[in-house]
Order: sequence, then C-alpha cells, then structure tokens
Amino acid sequence: MRVFVTGATGYIGSVVVDALQRASHQVVALVRHQEKARRLADRGVDTALGTLGNPNTWRQQASTCDGFVHAAFERSAKGVEIDRIALDTLIDLAQHAAARGPASLVYTSGIWVLGATQEAVDESAPLAPIDLVAWRPAHERLVLDAAGGQLRTAVVRPGVVYGGSQGIVADMLKDAENGLMRIVGTGENHWPLVYDRDLADLYVRVLTAEDGHGVYHANDEADEQVRAIADAIAAHRPHPPDIRFVPLAEARTKMGPYADALALDQRVRSPRARALGWNPSLRSVAGNIPRLSEELRRGRIARQERQDS
Ligand SMILES: NC(=O)c1ccc[n+]([C@@H]2O[C@H](COP(=O)([O-])OP(=O)(O)OC[C@H]3O[C@@H](n4cnc5c(N)ncnc54)[C@H](OP(=O)(O)O)[C@@H]3O)[C@@H](O)[C@H]2O)c1
Repeated sequence: MRVFVTGATGYIGSVVVDALQRASHQVVALVRHQEKARRLADRGVDTALGTLGNPNTWRQQASTCDGFVHAAFERSAKGVEIDRIALDTLIDLAQHAAARGPASLVYTSGIWVLGATQEAVDESAPLAPIDLVAWRPAHERLVLDAAGGQLRTAVVRPGVVYGGSQGIVADMLKDAENGLMRIVGTGENHWPLVYDRDLADLYVRVLTAEDGHGVYHANDEADEQVRAIADAIAAHRPHPPDIRFVPLAEARTKMGPYADALALDQRVRSPRARALGWNPSLRSVAGNIPRLSEELRRGRIARQERQDS
C-alpha cells in the first residue's frame, strides 16, 4: 500500500510511519519543516512539504496514495477549522483513490469523546464529549459517512498514549525527575492507556484488513488509576518526588478545559480492535516504569543527537 500520513513528525504519526515501513508499505508524509522532511527522506519516506490548512501544498503527492492516515492536529485557535479543511481534502482524495481500486482512510480521534464512563464501554457507547473535544464527533461522522464503493473508512480512538519520550505519561516521568508531580483531582480516576507501538500496529491492521472499517477503540484495557501510575513512578525514583493533588477547579484556572480531560474517569474496551487480531504487547504503565524510563532516556539522547547533527 502507498500511504499518505499527516502528523508523521508527531507522537502518534511517527510510530505509525515506523510500523508502516516495517510492514513494507510506502509512506508519503506531510511535513511542514524542511529539516524534518530531510530526516524522513533519509529513512526512505517520500515527503510533501506543506501545511494541513493549505491542501494545495500536498494534494498532488497525496493523490498517488491508496491509504490515508490523518494523525496531525494543529494546537492553535484555528486547529478545529484546519482539521476540517484537511479532512475534507483527505476524504476527497480517498474517494478518488477508491475509483481506481481499494482505498482506506483512517482518522485519529480519541477516547475523550466518550466522556466519563460509569462502566466499561466499547465502541457502541453513546458519545458524551468533554468541552475540549466537543467538535470531534462531527469529524468522526464525516469520515464514517464517506465510506462506500471501494473506500473503507475508520476512526481510531486512542487512549492516553505512552512510550518513548512524548505524551502525558512521559511528562509525568519528567515531573518526577524534577521533584514534583501534579495530579488533577484525587487520582482515583482511571485512564484508558495504550502503548505507542501497539497503537501503531492497530493503524496498520485497520488500514490493510479487508474488513477494517468503523470505530476502533485502542487501549490496553488495564483500567489503571492515575494515583497508581504516579505512585509507581515515584517509587522508581532514588529520591521520591512530592505528589500534589490539585483540585479540579484550581487546575481549570491554569489549564482550561484540558484539566477536565486529565480528571476523566474512564474504563474503555477495544473489542473491535481485538477482532482484527490486535493484541497489545504492554498492558500496564505502573508495571513498566523501568522500561518506560529507559525509553524516555533513549528518546532524549536521540533528540540531542538530532539537534547536534
Ligand atoms: N498523544 C495522545 O495521547 C493522544 C491520544 C488520543 C488522541 N490523540 C490525538 O491524536 C492526534 C495526534 O496527536 P499527537 O499526540 O501525535 O500530537 P503531536 O505529537 O502534537 O503531533 C502533531 C503532528 O501534527 C503536525 N501538525 C500540526 N499542525 C500542522 C499543520 N498546520 N500542518 C501540518 N502538520 C501539522 C505536527 O507537525 P510538527 O512536527 O511540524 O509540529 C505533528 O507532526 C491529535 O488529534 C490528538 O488529539 C492523541
């Protein structure tokens, strides 16, 4: 498959590119900085230099593909509007590709569209998005409704991604090194979590499986409490950090609606992903702190080497 990937330089997109290459697929990556494009090109990735909000910069290269993964998101006031522009173009490109042969489009959403869950929920659960992602269900719907003919479309809802040197869990590890971890709320809430490489494996399965379509939750189903993760990280430090539980109202004044995301209590199941043969290799953050600390260390070294080169 020849796969166009947005967000190829980001946390999720970069592991998806790795997994696609391991599975011998060709990748065309949307990249907005020349230097990052050069690094990807060195790894055998074709690149389109452009930006999400200006599809004329990438439409032509993307039109050579039969697979499409949207894993970019611009964190700005215009992020949602730009996501819609990119999505409309990706859908159009995927529909044109499907006129030539089988094609597949995968959109990256997230489990925060589910809101707080009273019990474990699967992909059939009604949506109750928190304010931060209130716009997201409409974009999911656009993708799902675009399926037809030879076009399969799918929405992947990752849990909180862990592994490597990016993301919320890596930030907790970094905070612990600095001596203070802040937890929004009581920490008794559960986070759905997914190891980055396991998530990438699911993207490849969804893209390539003949029946890969519809909504896929992606989480390790371990139902870990945030407090347990923080305690495990603290126990791994030679000098345990302070752990401060910040009341949600106070956290909102500093972080805005993102605080509500961190305080969500969610138990999520991923049966549709499992039906594709997906079987996460890691099923716990708290049980893998030495490994995750080592991944953080290596990620930092790699970043330093990139800056030095
Ligand atoms: N990380 C998680 O735990 C998680 C969980 C569930 C859902 N998600 C969702 O997954 C998506 C990706 O998340 P992430 O954590 O991988 O984010 P990320 O690490 O911030 O990556 C964002 C990617 O988008 C690219 N990008 C941003 N604005 C762009 C623009 N205007 N034009 C072209 N490229 C642009 C970035 O390029 P640069 O390298 O140039 O900045 C980067 O490659 C988001 O929608 C997020 O909400 C994330």
